[in-house]
This record gives sequence, structure tokens and C-alpha cells, in this order.
Amino acid sequence: MTSIARSVSLFKRFQIARDVQLISIIRKMSTKILDIDTPIVPLTDAHRFISDCMVAVGTPKKYADILADNLTAADYRGHYSHGMNRLDMYVRDVQGGLCDCKATPSVIKETPATAWVTGNNGLGAVVGEFCMELAIKKAKSVGIGMVVAKESNHYGIAGKYSLQAIDQGVLGMSFTNTSPLMAPTRAKGSALGTNPLSLGAPAAGGDSFVLDMATTAVAVGKIEFQKRKGQPIPEGWAQDAHGKITTDPSVAYDAKRLMPLGGSEINSGYKGYGLAALVEIFCGMLGGSAYGPNIRKWGDSSKKADLGQCFIAIDPECFAPGFQGRLGDLLCTLRSMQPADPAKPVLVAGDPERLHMEDADRAGGVRYVEDQLNTCRELAKKLHVKPLVPA
Ligand SMILES: NC(=O)c1ccc[n+]([C@@H]2O[C@H](COP(=O)([O-])OP(=O)(O)OC[C@H]3O[C@@H](n4cnc5c(N)ncnc54)[C@H](O)[C@@H]3O)[C@@H](O)[C@H]2O)c1
Repeated sequence: MTSIARSVSLFKRFQIARDVQLISIIRKMSTKILDIDTPIVPLTDAHRFISDCMVAVGTPKKYADILADNLTAADYRGHYSHGMNRLDMYVRDVQGGLCDCKATPSVIKETPATAWVTGNNGLGAVVGEFCMELAIKKAKSVGIGMVVAKESNHYGIAGKYSLQAIDQGVLGMSFTNTSPLMAPTRAKGSALGTNPLSLGAPAAGGDSFVLDMATTAVAVGKIEFQKRKGQPIPEGWAQDAHGKITTDPSVAYDAKRLMPLGGSEINSGYKGYGLAALVEIFCGMLGGSAYGPNIRKWGDSSKKADLGQCFIAIDPECFAPGFQGRLGDLLCTLRSMQPADPAKPVLVAGDPERLHMEDADRAGGVRYVEDQLNTCRELAKKLHVKPLVPA
């Protein structure tokens, strides 16, 4: 299908009739399945492989499947930094006794609209799914649910939990603190994490808004991923150990001084810094987990993560009637705007991921870079599981 036909189908799918000059605004879409020459891996096999690896290190099958759902969702949505790329880290944390793959989260304190949960050092994906389910239940009962967890682990893409809420017709937000990787504006060292936040909201006709973003210029996984590909990073993503902007992914990865969203102070990087602190207030401050520079360093395998996470669900029915219709209209209006560059149509949050999923569906799966495939081969050998089977 041509890019124009794809874009037309994107608009049609949301069944919102608009008198717009589609041809004039729709141009070549920029998202592609990784443009590399490696075999396509069906998502079902990626899921099977992740689950097998986690079961091999002692994870109950239902929890291994929750983690596999989480990582394959990241790859499917085009966030390769948080999919298969993270599997060896989860395996290492479990094998090293830093994460208890068998642990079930439990509620410490509860009101009709809130809950404080301990993840009991379980898998972050399991803690996240539990907390968002609880928040949704509360939202459906009293209009809003807010659940904050301590003693959790890395929970993958923040958007996974917003999507969980959208699936049940409510708005969802999720936040997590992370290892200190961001240099606050004017600081030389790092003190806050890449602290992602997400808001998902359902719109009419199956459309949705899914903002899912790190509060640094990019997630650290994207720097790691450029390293895997052997390609430079753009200016403004990270500093070197001396506080100077670098384009070398290895230097950036080792220095662990990512720039806040916005970059330097002159470009309002302090707003990204403020948003990262906002996330920390919802997570570490409310949750009583580790926080800021007290969280274990990225890659540290000597200390438990004890991350804080926050999940909010909101029932739109509690407010003005017709939320989904209005949001659908707004999204369509934004997408219909005349683009400044005709080659780049205006998108809304969630569209790049939607287009990536369409590409993956058409290709019959996703592609992993060679370095990632090697890591998977090594994992298969080490854990005695069936290797990935490309199509
Ligand atoms: N668990 C963790 O510790 C952790 C930490 C950091 C990031 N992450 C995850 O990493 C992933 C990547 O984060 P990121 O900040 O690099 O994402 P990103 O910059 O690729 O996208 C951020 C958001 O912008 C939207 N977007 C992108 N291009 C757009 C456009 N042209 N118009 C409108 N909207 C557009 C996307 O849909 C997305 O919602 C996220 O899923 C995030 O949750 C996780």
C-alpha cells in the first residue's frame, strides 16, 4: 500500500468525516520497521522466547507472560529500546537475586480512590499491571483511582499502563522513577532519572491519544540502541563526563548525564527537569521508595532497584458528557492541519506507534539489529531455551 493510501486508511479508520484536502496534507510517513537487513521475527515467537527465558530462570508462567506482553508491546510500538533489548537485564536481575520473579504485589493502605502498594520487589511489569487494574477498578467505582507503589522494578514502557486503561474506556496515566541519569539544569552530575510519564485517553471510533515520553530528551535505551547500531546520537541528547554535549553514544552511555527534555537552559531544558521532578514527587515522594540520586546507578547489579511508580485512572463519565467525541474531533483537527513541510504530516501522540504497528503487521513481525540477535542467541544457549525462530 502506498503511504498516501495508508494515511487515508488511518483517517478512515477513525470514521470521522472531515472536509479536508487529504492529498495535500498526507505525504510519505516516516516510521518504518527497522531499516536493516535482518530477518523478520514474528511477534508471537518474540513473545514465546521472552516467556521461555523468564520461565527458565524460575518465573511463574503467568508472570513470564505478563513480561513478554510488555516487551513485545514495546517492540510492536517501535520502542525497541524497551522491548527485547531489556530481556537480558531482567534475566540478570532475577539470576543475581536482585528481583524476586515470583513475588506478588500487595496493598499496604487503601481508600475508595487510592491505594499504596508494595511490589515486594517483583517484576515491574507485574507490579504495574496489578496497580493499574486496581486504579481502573477504583475509577469505575468512585470516578478516580490513584495507586502508588514502592519496591518495584523497571516496568518497561509507561504507555503500556495507559493503554490498559484505554482498553477499559477510562483515561490512564503512569509514571516511574528510574536510576539517576539526568543532569538537572546547571548541574554537572546526574540526580534524577529519565522518569517517563504517560497519558492515554480513549476517543470516538477507536481512536486514542497516547502520550508516552521520557522527561529527558530521549530514553537511555535509545542511546544504548544507537550504540548497538554503531551510529552517532544527535546533539542535545546527552553530555559527556565533563558536561559537554556529545554525539558519541558510548561516551554518552558511560557518562550517564542525559539532558532534560528541551536540552540546555537557553532551550528551556529546565521544563524537562521540572517534569522529571514532578514524576519523582508522584513516585518516590508519595510511595516511600528510593528516589533521586539514592536509586541504584544504571547497570548496578549490587543493589535492589526499589523503584516508585504511580498509576492514575479517571472515568470521563464523571465530567462533561461526550468526552470521546470531542477528543476524536480534536485529534482529527490536529491531524488535518496544513503541514509546514509537506513531506511531514501533522501527527498526534500515539500516531508514530500506530504507524509502526501497521508496518509490523504488514511485515509479519519486527526486525532486531544483529547485536540484539546475538544477545538472544547467547541467552538461548545459556538458559537452554529454543532460540528465536525468524520467519
Ligand atoms: N521504564 C523506564 O524506566 C523508562 C524510562 C524512560 C523512557 N521509557 C520509555 O521509553 C519510550 C521512549 O520514550 P521517548 O521519550 O524516547 O519517546 P519518543 O520521543 O519516541 O515519543 C514520545 C511521545 O511523542 C509522540 N510523538 C513522537 N513524534 C511525534 C510527532 N511528530 N507528533 C506528535 N507526537 C509525536 C509519541 O507518540 C510519544 O507519545 C517510552 O515508551 C517511555 O515510556 C521508559
